Amino acid sequence: MTSPPSDHLSTVPCYRITGSAPLRGTVRVPGDKSISHRALMFGAIASGVTRIRGLLEGEDCLNTARVLRKLGVRIETETVDGQRVWTVHGVGQGGLISTTEPLDVGNSGTGMRLLAGLLVGQGVSASLVGDRSLMSRPMERIAAPLRMMGAQIDTRDGKPPVVIQSGAEVIGIDYHLPVASAQVKSSVLLAGLGASHPTTVTEPERSRDHTERMLPAFGCPVAVKGNTARLTGPAQLQGIEVDVPGDISSAAFLLVAATLIPGSELLIEHVGVNPTRTGIIRILEAMGASIERLNERDIHGEPVCDLRVKSANLTAIDVPSAWVPSAIDEFPVIFIAAASAAGTTRVTGVGELKVKESDRLGTMARGLEALGVRLIESDDGIEITGGPLSGGDIHSHDDHRIAMAFAVAGARSTEPLTVYDVTNVGTSFPGFAQLMQGLGLALEEI
Ligand code: S3P
Repeated sequence: MTSPPSDHLSTVPCYRITGSAPLRGTVRVPGDKSISHRALMFGAIASGVTRIRGLLEGEDCLNTARVLRKLGVRIETETVDGQRVWTVHGVGQGGLISTTEPLDVGNSGTGMRLLAGLLVGQGVSASLVGDRSLMSRPMERIAAPLRMMGAQIDTRDGKPPVVIQSGAEVIGIDYHLPVASAQVKSSVLLAGLGASHPTTVTEPERSRDHTERMLPAFGCPVAVKGNTARLTGPAQLQGIEVDVPGDISSAAFLLVAATLIPGSELLIEHVGVNPTRTGIIRILEAMGASIERLNERDIHGEPVCDLRVKSANLTAIDVPSAWVPSAIDEFPVIFIAAASAAGTTRVTGVGELKVKESDRLGTMARGLEALGVRLIESDDGIEITGGPLSGGDIHSHDDHRIAMAFAVAGARSTEPLTVYDVTNVGTSFPGFAQLMQGLGLALEEI
């Protein structure tokens, strides 16, 4: 068991799960985190007003909004016809103001890495900091290409704070990413918005492309060919209306839970199904899941649909490494599906999981072992053999997706399962516990 020390146990918020009724009903999940961050940031430097519906009001995006306000952007919220609307009064190209006050983006790698590129392109001096988890995550992956563009940017031993000094001329580059990453790609492209020559970014595999899809709607064309994206700065964005679909990364917990709990049938409405994000559906379907796409539509350049999922028996697969980028955030819950499938599931090419909000490969492996799951962990992969799950104590290591993945595991564990340190669930999925309780999961917040 990976039990935290007992004094810690008594103070940290946790989930205690004691089984589940079949999950049934029609639900929506909160807005897409990646799209929400981008809508706020692009709206901030656009000229005119950007109105955002469906924005994720989780801690990560609230921190991005807070930081943008400190940089001089007026951002207002109101409720119209029962729906929250965020209004961003853009300051226009070069309109953000520098600050000496450290800007705290909390838990969010996307917030820090995209803002760094944005601020470099906008000629802003600032220092970006975050919570304990973020302060230990690698930032040279963005600082190095931004320096190549001429930026004066420093990290501490490769980690935050990320300190940017304005004044340097920023020039577009042709950058080849060593590892597929939408955060690095977007950071470079956002710096390119203020650069004096075209900026080109090429990835080994295609990562999520929300930046490439949203910038043209704001009036900045992005040429995409294969795994290469190119834009030409300096670009003046124009404010737009944005409708943020539900986050498939949050829907993933419902897809796996409904698949694993016999007798379940859920309709998850208005989910973003951008093909660079649908690895979770592909992987679950290959394992035998029943997931139907209904009412497929396009909203401001992003594919959206309703997902109907019914319970099904899963069989192990070898996950092709080419599928990894499109499911990168879903592996914690995919590992729970694998632990419930017949046979041994093999996943390779997931070394990036080690530098997420926690070391997701190690944290999941330790947690699954604590539940009696047989597995073999390697440097960049894992083999998981399905079987019964015992109950016990699991530590999430302050990682929202680990906490929710084990909450799903609790639905089929033979004994009660307690997940410690669930506060960070609010970074991406506010209302997760209430939503799951309402659907039939016997989950108690302690
Ligand atoms: C994100 C990119 C991914 C993902 C993160 C959100 C984004 O990170 O894990 O949750 O919005 O660009 P990487 O780019 O590091 O793979």
